[in-house]
Amino acid sequence: MLLSLVMTTKICYSQQAPPMGWNSWNCFRKEVTSQKIREIADAAARFKLDEAGYTYFVIDDGWQESVLDSDGALMASIEKFPEGIPALVEYVGERGFKLGIYSSPNVLTCGGYPGSLGHEELHANQFAEWGCKFVKYDTCPTINKEQGVDPSEFVERCRVFGKALHHADPDIVYALCDKGWGGGVMWRQVSQRKGQWPPSLEQKLEGYGWCADVGAVMWRTTSDIRPKWERIMEILDEQEGLEALSGPNAFNDPDMLEVGNGKLTVNENRAHFSLWCMLNAPLFLGNDLREMTDSTVEIITNKEVIALNQDLMCEQARKVIDEGDIEYFVKPLANGNVAVCVLNRTDQAQEIVIDWAKLGLSGDTFAVRDLWARKNLGAIKNQLTRTIDSHDVFIARLAEVE
Ligand code: GLA
Repeated sequence: MLLSLVMTTKICYSQQAPPMGWNSWNCFRKEVTSQKIREIADAAARFKLDEAGYTYFVIDDGWQESVLDSDGALMASIEKFPEGIPALVEYVGERGFKLGIYSSPNVLTCGGYPGSLGHEELHANQFAEWGCKFVKYDTCPTINKEQGVDPSEFVERCRVFGKALHHADPDIVYALCDKGWGGGVMWRQVSQRKGQWPPSLEQKLEGYGWCADVGAVMWRTTSDIRPKWERIMEILDEQEGLEALSGPNAFNDPDMLEVGNGKLTVNENRAHFSLWCMLNAPLFLGNDLREMTDSTVEIITNKEVIALNQDLMCEQARKVIDEGDIEYFVKPLANGNVAVCVLNRTDQAQEIVIDWAKLGLSGDTFAVRDLWARKNLGAIKNQLTRTIDSHDVFIARLAEVE
């Protein structure tokens, strides 16, 4: 009896928490190949990323042939994926990972390959038969115009695909990447329609509110990320208020991680990763796992920071204080602890006073664990003073001391 209870809790936990994995787009774009995925899976196994929680290896756009076959089925590019997708499912499976794949509710994908419009059931069945366990379903207009799918039918087409996928294999994670097109809150739509950006919070909540209803476990809440601090901060700002949509099995997706990409500094990588963990973001690495620096490995495998993201309570952090370039985020945790993350957006190190009452915490003394220093700071009454580097965070787990 006890054993079955424990097992139920475990299963429930893994299904409800934000999905984690790796996606090919940020480092390989359309040049993704079967050989690269194999090498990445080997590297992931070497670094024991499965133990850190990374599960899904997602082949993004560019895996397809440029046309559907005569029955309307998708075909993997013979040149880039000569052995086909099922062989790759097996290869990553032997290393402890599950394969994910990509398509679109449109005629064409964002990269110009054939999408699934009108062939939803057939394509969902293909993915399930191949053994894929994750599908990213992505939308873009082509040549700056709405294409293919009628905007008034867009949500329904996403529902049709979600149902087909669930029917084919209820374990497949359905990840929408419509970036606001379906709900009319994509930046291009908003600027064209009203000449203003950003949309109001009400518009955004309505604009993304349909995604969970069509079966998606996660949905993109922004256009594409880039490995630049300014872009990461822009995306962070766009997430404010979206907590209302997030919960078990339902996650706002501020896009895949750029940790280890471009010229992001160690501090910036650490801050980016910490913030995505606080936001309950699906954690999809986007770097080349074959060539990682020690600091990148240390960041992406910090189990105590990842534990905040995977916490069973599934609460997205709220920004509770905004002092301009210093921001304070709070995330309640299932065991009654609280995660606190303070972000320094300025170009200099700053001495920061973190005051429990100002954060809205009810107790006056907390045992504080600094999650990057991996150090207990002791029982601290009322407030804590820390120096936080430029473009860095202080992130801690607080347990109230009675
Ligand atoms: C869009 C998505 C990206 C990626 C590309 C593929 O831009 O937002 O994440 O999937 O399409 O073409």
